[in-house]
Amino acid sequence: MRDNSKFVGYLFEVAWILPSVAIPVTLFVAVVITAFAVGIRVPTDVGRVDPQALAQTVPFDNPGIREMAPGVYEATVIAQTFAFTPGEIEIPLDSKVTFTLTSRDVIHGFKIEGTDVNGMIVPGQITKVTTTFRRPGEYLIVCHEFCGAGHHLMFGKVIVK
Ligand code: CUA
Repeated sequence: MRDNSKFVGYLFEVAWILPSVAIPVTLFVAVVITAFAVGIRVPTDVGRVDPQALAQTVPFDNPGIREMAPGVYEATVIAQTFAFTPGEIEIPLDSKVTFTLTSRDVIHGFKIEGTDVNGMIVPGQITKVTTTFRRPGEYLIVCHEFCGAGHHLMFGKVIVK
């Protein structure tokens, strides 16, 4: 009788090695496809700011919406317990809006329902995230990082007309 145990051992080894190569390769390909073909971006920390000196720091000294070019806007928003300033942002339909965000106190979240905007607002850092509003209506902005007793009351609104 022939001893097959060595051969079976190799099979087991290959059966474990293949997925351990295939899974990371698949995930890497998924990251490349979503980044370049689907355009999914990670909100990035693009700079630092002194949370004590927001009133003297451009653009946080003047929060709100500014038109940078036709159809291109920049919205500067400050988060603090338990509100966004400004709480309401009005923009025309089909505008491309870059949100420039920071926090005055603790970590907050910034998610605009029905869009791909989903960022974290960290005191001392500036977060930028861009999206285009292609449907008219009201979009709810929610804080989705637990920031204290009033966390569930922290929201804002984007109105697209
Ligand atoms: Cu701010 Cu939760």
